Amino acid sequence: MGSHFVRAARERNLAVIVLDDLSTGHATAVPSDVTLLRCDIGDMQLVARALRDHKVTAVVHFAGLIQVGESVQKPAKYFDVNVSRSLALLECVLREGVGSFVFSSSASVYAASDEALREDSALAPVSPYGMSKLAIEHALRAYGNAYGLKWAALRYFNAAGAHPDGTLRETHHPETHLIPNALDAAFGKTPPLTVFGNDYPTEDGTCIRDYVHVCDLADAHIAALRVLASDQTVGVVNLGSEHGFSVREVLHACELVLGRSVPHTFGARRAGDSPRLVADAGLAHRALGWLPQRSSLMNIVDDAARSRGTRER
Ligand code: UFG
Repeated sequence: MGSHFVRAARERNLAVIVLDDLSTGHATAVPSDVTLLRCDIGDMQLVARALRDHKVTAVVHFAGLIQVGESVQKPAKYFDVNVSRSLALLECVLREGVGSFVFSSSASVYAASDEALREDSALAPVSPYGMSKLAIEHALRAYGNAYGLKWAALRYFNAAGAHPDGTLRETHHPETHLIPNALDAAFGKTPPLTVFGNDYPTEDGTCIRDYVHVCDLADAHIAALRVLASDQTVGVVNLGSEHGFSVREVLHACELVLGRSVPHTFGARRAGDSPRLVADAGLAHRALGWLPQRSSLMNIVDDAARSRGTRER
């Protein structure tokens, strides 16, 4: 997500520096004309110096752990990286007088619901990952009220796809996300995909998610930065396509795009998964002027396939 944002920012001639400990990020995803400082966001001395030296006016914080399942097994790791270190980063932001902060939050803060989720829908994160995101949202609201920080917490639904030119791709180790795993399984790069549960209370028994293209998400960050720069705050905003697709429907879309089957088996539910998460993204439109342009499921799968070399560029 960070690399797609940097691409979008550079396309608009915004000056960017990247702080990354490269624990999950990739130096090759940072353009050669962008400064990359290898740094843990919890290292307050280094972070503060970077903010000062580069006269940073806004921080966009992507540096979180993202695996719902892992967070159930290793909650301490998630509270450390996603909460403690985010608070350290925020402390530096306040001390150095950086006025704007954009945070990657998540749909996993919500309680599962059959209705489209609005920002004021019930919050009940199922996983420590979701809890960690909600904790930072609370901090942002309090810091905004007390210290005047202008902030946006963008609740991504399922970030998916890749830049259409095929040069940026999802490279998680291990890869846990549905679409890249389905594409790799179809080409025999990995064993058949396991569908985590087909006994959910949904039409076909598999989980329903709202997949939103990473380039659309990147554009929303730019829009949020514009609002914050005008000295208004944004608060929490959903970013989703407003369309829900089951795991089976996603596999079918992959098969249509690739013209080959996705070998799969059905397994147990994965701990921490909600049955259904679909956005009402009306506020993003009203507050940010944001409407997703690339987020049809077929387009997302097509771009993801191209980025993985499973479809021609
Ligand atoms: N799934 C499978 N098999 C797989 C991978 C995934 O069946 O091999 C299923 C999951 O159980 C889930 C759906 O496909 O039902 C989507 O799973 P992903 O791992 O692709 O994404 P998640 O919904 O678990 O999580 C993603 C992000 C989170 C974010 C969340 C919000 O990783 O950061 O979307 O909806 F919070």
